[in-house]
Amino acid sequence: MPLNDFAFQRCIRPACGFTCGVEEVRTSCPTCGDLLDIDYEWERAAVPKSLRRFEEAWSQRHQPLRFSGVWRFHELLPFVRPESVVTVGEGQTLLYQSDAVGEFVRLNSGRLHLQHEGLNPSGSFKDNGMSAAFSHARAIGARRAACASTGNTSASLAMYCGVLRNLKGIVFIGSGRISYGKLSQALDYGALTIQIAGDFDDAMARVQEVSRDLGMYLVNSVNPFRLEGQKTIMFRVLEALRWEVPDWIVVPGGNLGNSSAFGKAFVELKTLGLIDRLPRLAVINAAGADTLFELYERRGLRWNGGDGKMDIAEQYFRELDQGGRKASTIASAIEINRPVNLRKCLRALEAMNGVVRQVSDQEILDAKAKVGAAGIGCEPASAASVAGARLLRDQGVIGADDRVVCVLTGHQLKDPTATVAYHTTDQEQFNKVLGSRGVRRASFANRAVAVANDLGEIVKAIQLYS
Ligand code: F0G
Repeated sequence: MPLNDFAFQRCIRPACGFTCGVEEVRTSCPTCGDLLDIDYEWERAAVPKSLRRFEEAWSQRHQPLRFSGVWRFHELLPFVRPESVVTVGEGQTLLYQSDAVGEFVRLNSGRLHLQHEGLNPSGSFKDNGMSAAFSHARAIGARRAACASTGNTSASLAMYCGVLRNLKGIVFIGSGRISYGKLSQALDYGALTIQIAGDFDDAMARVQEVSRDLGMYLVNSVNPFRLEGQKTIMFRVLEALRWEVPDWIVVPGGNLGNSSAFGKAFVELKTLGLIDRLPRLAVINAAGADTLFELYERRGLRWNGGDGKMDIAEQYFRELDQGGRKASTIASAIEINRPVNLRKCLRALEAMNGVVRQVSDQEILDAKAKVGAAGIGCEPASAASVAGARLLRDQGVIGADDRVVCVLTGHQLKDPTATVAYHTTDQEQFNKVLGSRGVRRASFANRAVAVANDLGEIVKAIQLYS
């Protein structure tokens, strides 16, 4: 038996109470339709008494399970036995401390940190979750794995399929909606790539239907095993901070898998007595895809112990449909109007005394340029976290001396079109890519200098500009 019998699946709605074993493949509760969690009889799992014990794993990094930044925390996601784990060495990511970005956010020196999940093998945080979902898929003998994607999930899925070889990857993407960096990965890693005439929300609805009909293993974040892997992002943040809990975790919000997983991670650590307090959570939407902001901050939707007034959300989705309103942002990774993990995210916001903000494409690109100029770099969606932290700082919600961790979800090279358009001197290119999104300025642009192919002219230009 490759799976542990002290792990089980549980409906997130306390009043429902549905549970089933981890050998079952489900993306929703068969009784009430809500989302599922992976839960554990913790007393039967060999959880260390102190987080410091995980430092010992690092000294055994010649073993693949200890080298992986996901599986060196195996005791905190113990649904699968070690022999079934699938790893490509994901999760070797860094927590940068950056005063350059900290000044932009207007935090005191030493207080801003950037957890760079773009450093994963496929260039985004998705590998954390995919490694966990694929371990489950392998344990239950799945043959085909599928996802809908704004690009990064498909790149990650395609990479794991390429490594495993006995699982065929099928990705659904909205036609023209994903950046070239991400599309090129899905194609190069060999996944069957289905371009749907529609956006991510359309692709997400279709892949769920097709997966049901064809029995394909779905790896979107409705898959509760995936979120178990994404918990480890927070374990590594704590590890890098020498197990001290920061004041704030700031994360971009799209399908709301990360925010949900982070909440679960901290609640579990507290329940296990491994931390004594939870950080606060800030989820940042792009203004053109701001469902969570609208529902949480404007219409007052809350988790409320699992009993929140979900008709508020249903009403909002009806309004979106009636108005024909589609998500639209330069941060294509989070161009999502119907986040599948909405309820889990509401639960995380309650547990972590959370806030939600929205930031414009202009603010996202300016923040991205600052992250780039700090020598770190990220894709547009990731910079929403930095733009959001700056906004919360301006509003006095985050204090100047708070210890803040912004999660950078994807690598700088994922979306070169947006980056080059921001820095370009070509007004036409700027207008085409960014002007159409309401971006008016590139205040932090680093413009290329055009010179004649002439030694004197080149020397003059260097003296003038450096
Ligand atoms: N940042 C990046 C770079 C992403 O690719 C995504 C999601 C998010 C943030 C949002 O994360 O869903 O946890 O709120 N990308 C998915 C995809 C939708 O298909 O690649 P979330």
